[in-house]
Amino acid sequence: MTTRHPHRKGKVIFVGEDRELWFELHREISPAESPWELVFTHTAAQALVTMAKSTFDAVVADNELPDMDGLRFLNEVMKRHPETLRFIRAPIAANRLAMRFVGTPHQHLLKPGNAQTVFAALSRAIKFQAWLPGGAAQILLSGLHKLPSAPKLYFQVVADLQSPEASVESVGALIAQDMAMTAKLLQLANSALFGLQRQVSHPAEAVLYLGMETTKSVLLLAHSFSYFDRIRVEDFSIDALWNHSLQTGKFAQQIASDAGAGTEIASQSFTAGMLHDIGKLALAANLPEKFGQAVSLARAKKAQLSETETEVIGASHGELGACLLATWGLPAPVVEAVALHHYPVQLLSRSFCPLTAVHVANGLNHETEPTDRDRAGSTVDRRYLSQMNLSGRLDEWRALCLEPARRAAA
Ligand SMILES: [Fe+2]
Ligand SMILES: [Fe+2]
Repeated sequence: MTTRHPHRKGKVIFVGEDRELWFELHREISPAESPWELVFTHTAAQALVTMAKSTFDAVVADNELPDMDGLRFLNEVMKRHPETLRFIRAPIAANRLAMRFVGTPHQHLLKPGNAQTVFAALSRAIKFQAWLPGGAAQILLSGLHKLPSAPKLYFQVVADLQSPEASVESVGALIAQDMAMTAKLLQLANSALFGLQRQVSHPAEAVLYLGMETTKSVLLLAHSFSYFDRIRVEDFSIDALWNHSLQTGKFAQQIASDAGAGTEIASQSFTAGMLHDIGKLALAANLPEKFGQAVSLARAKKAQLSETETEVIGASHGELGACLLATWGLPAPVVEAVALHHYPVQLLSRSFCPLTAVHVANGLNHETEPTDRDRAGSTVDRRYLSQMNLSGRLDEWRALCLEPARRAAA
């Protein structure tokens, strides 16, 4: 994993004709103190020439450029410079046309928006880069063919929730349009995992009982797994990974709540826990031979699977999964947790975050799976816990997460 220079200025190129925003950006920052180096170009053609000469951390493009559609331009950037973070500035609207900007592999900035919101989004994104895998995982990702697209339905639900008319019914109706998703959501809501007291038969009911945050995470998980469902991967149990993902999500949420981390961190922990091993699916489906080699090597050497993946493939499942989720535009703490779930000490911060919850939840869950291939390296990192002053909580969390399942099995 390569890290970028933490003190280097973030280099950002703006593309488009939004002079008002440009003036504001200049007004907000004085060049000497600014953590940013900003470059402005009017057209897509100019931007591509400029970007060929120098490396940029991020590109912010208008949805309408004088010479090219903003999305087409960013798709081109993604091909030529996969390491550059991409933002599209587009208005959010209730109409269907605007939905084309939501759920693309570029991050969405609301238009008009102001300099502050632009800087906030950039800071978050550049912070990613302090830990985001270097080019290797991103280039590997762009070469994989069997990958689920960005989950449109998830972003439609997110957009719906921003409208004042949003309700359990409106979200349920959106989900109901997608048969495969409806089936998966109902199957999940009725599974023992959620322990609902009654049978749920309509997406709106599922939303009501599961709650909005859980529903959103479930949509993401179901989206990815229903894509890979159709791919047969030899010697790899998608069902086992599905169960492991659900359990880890649930454990992570319980741990975050128990740690008093607040509802936002708890729900991000749930999402990240559900998606933490998505990179394994992507590897198994796209590079089955190499992935198989990495698995056997990890077993033979009793090493972390992540290490042998890096050795054989060039990137680990955590890094790869994180890159995929970053292109979907998921929140930074979720992406971070997925990237580092086997290496939590690599995160500079030592405050409780979704990574903490997911790391512990994953370790605890692997304890229950004696045949798990990832087990050798999936224990909880005691050093990290002690740096976090959380060593004393591990037994308590083990009981909290594992006892109910043991009791049910007895
Ligand atoms: Fe993992
Ligand atoms: Fe895992």
